[in-house]
Amino acid sequence: MNSLNPVAFVDQDFTELKTLLENYHDKKQVILVDTNTKKYCLTLLLEHVPELNHAEIFQVAAEENSKSMEICFDLWKRLTDNNFNRNDLLINLGGGMISDLGGFVAATYKRGMDYINIPTSLLAQVDASIGGKTGVNFHHFKNLIGSIYLPKSVFIFNDFLTTLPKRQILSGFGEVIKSGLIADKELWKEIKQLDEISIGQLTDIVKDACQIKLDIVKSDLHEKSIRKTLNFGHTIGHAIETYSMSNHPSPCFHGEAIAMGMICESYISWKTNKITQEDHQEIEGFIVKHYAKIDFDLNDFSSLLETMKKDKKNISNEYNFSLLDEIGLACFDVKVEEELIKESLVHLHNINF
Ligand code: GLY
Repeated sequence: MNSLNPVAFVDQDFTELKTLLENYHDKKQVILVDTNTKKYCLTLLLEHVPELNHAEIFQVAAEENSKSMEICFDLWKRLTDNNFNRNDLLINLGGGMISDLGGFVAATYKRGMDYINIPTSLLAQVDASIGGKTGVNFHHFKNLIGSIYLPKSVFIFNDFLTTLPKRQILSGFGEVIKSGLIADKELWKEIKQLDEISIGQLTDIVKDACQIKLDIVKSDLHEKSIRKTLNFGHTIGHAIETYSMSNHPSPCFHGEAIAMGMICESYISWKTNKITQEDHQEIEGFIVKHYAKIDFDLNDFSSLLETMKKDKKNISNEYNFSLLDEIGLACFDVKVEEELIKESLVHLHNINF
């Protein structure tokens, strides 16, 4: 297994990336883009890093459906047609869909070729691009087929975020909030003082969130223990995201659903005597201030609960949560009763955003 390298925050001259590329000067390179990152990010990357001008460009549609075995077959074929070897380099330029897909293709091609991530969304910068989770969807199950295979490095260039709509920033910021809540009280203090969530103010906060994720993954790459704490907000949040995909004409974004999940799961943390009511209210107040509500029909409890039971993080037929022991400290593998989950959903449903 390759090792977990620090995340590089690059500035306009991309020195860190150029240094890495020196190791690949006599190797083939391919940049995986989607239709959006081809349009908004590729030119910028090539302008700053002309060393990549000869790289092959593989493009996929900018949609979740691109995370499929069919697209993998196509990408493996194109790598083969272009005589790529395992020591050549695949560069993922995009959000989480691209790093999941490209990472998986790299993990499996000739038993593992080198790859790097250049995440272009806030969500990918603070979460998906770090920690080597790769995979594709299969038969309507998200990330069912995949592996943990680490990139050689991750390069974060904030200018890519300037073309993103505000909702994309808010979505990524959901994972930043989570980082503070599970691992860093000081970060949470900084976050809760923000009047507005806009990229101009975020550089240091994003660095802190990336460092938290790196530290956690370093100590538990295969999610046997502390990496599970990264799932705070995700058991209920993922169920709400799945519900929104089937029931809302314009489905929510991942981090927006996780923000709703964090309201419910901090409620459960309070009701199980882990955090105080004031802590819960502080978390809820911040999310209500900055996010739009994602609502659901109270008659649809069963479909939300069904999704939670099917969560691949469950090892038995129980509801398994990562919760907050206190702000800045999370616990994992906590069994929660169905009644309390329902109560937290009713609580969310009744909040006026
Ligand atoms: N996105 C959670 C993890 O990487 O473990």
